[in-house]
Amino acid sequence: MSPEMPPKMSLPGVKHVVAVASGKGGVGKSTVAANLTLALHTAGKQVGLMDADIYGPSVPIMFGLGQVNPQTTPFPLHKYGVALMSMGFMVDPNQAVIWRGPKVAQAVQAFLGQIPWGELDYLVIDLPPGTGDAQLTLSQSAPLTGAVIVTTPQEVSLIDARKGVRMFQEVRVPVLGVVENMSYFVGDDGKRYDLFRAGGGRKLAAEIGVPLLGELPIDPRVAECGDTGEPMVRKYPDAPVSKAYLELAQTVIRETAQRPAAGPLPEVSL
Ligand SMILES: Nc1ncnc2c1ncn2[C@@H]1O[C@H](COP(=O)(O)OP(=O)(O)OP(=O)(O)O)[C@@H](O)[C@H]1O
Ligand SMILES: [Mg+2]
Repeated sequence: MSPEMPPKMSLPGVKHVVAVASGKGGVGKSTVAANLTLALHTAGKQVGLMDADIYGPSVPIMFGLGQVNPQTTPFPLHKYGVALMSMGFMVDPNQAVIWRGPKVAQAVQAFLGQIPWGELDYLVIDLPPGTGDAQLTLSQSAPLTGAVIVTTPQEVSLIDARKGVRMFQEVRVPVLGVVENMSYFVGDDGKRYDLFRAGGGRKLAAEIGVPLLGELPIDPRVAECGDTGEPMVRKYPDAPVSKAYLELAQTVIRETAQRPAAGPLPEVSL
């Protein structure tokens, strides 16, 4: 597979495509996407995770995978029971990918249309920060069931999350709801501590009239897991944050059940 190839867009076996997004960087989109993917798998669903962050892919590190030889290892890769695709499987992670907008769009379309994802209940898409080429390409050409907006509780994060929401609204992609990440901390005493000003996610959800899908606690093990190739939900399934991810998966299942399944992708000419 090469991102240069013309897109042949079709996802016949995929029931729901769910994008995980935020206008802001570093709020935990990739972490939420990876753990939501595994939590949906735990819930008995067939799931794939597509890393649409072409410049800064996170999926390889989070799943303990690297560049592979596509001649011998067909895409998507599989680990922990889920299908995975990332630019980091195609290029050396240390090599800078210097691509302009149209190439990013082509790569995203190729990931969607040319990777044999097979039969999936959910294809989760990890979007890069901002409202750039990857987001627009996806919103315009992918049969998105909807977008999950990740934010942190602080007002500054909300401002960017709002921009992300607006972008999806402009291209008529439904926003499934808001996830507030790094909401609180559960101490050894089992008590909940609000580290930042709590309630930002709830406020944003109310403002745009969508459900608050979940509030995920902060846990240093999340970052440790992100760096060591085994996401939290798998490594520490009993941790409060993992339980929150499993609940989030159930909520996403409920919210998407009410939405039409992904239709065929439109042809996109570049
Ligand atoms: N609930 C959490 N508790 C502790 N650490 C977390 C939590 N969620 C995310 N992190 C950590 O925060 C950092 C940023 O997370 P992540 O890479 O998922 O953000 P992102 O929004 O995808 O960033 P980018 O905008 O660069 O793509 C990572 O080191 C991750 O492990
Ligand atoms: Mg990311």
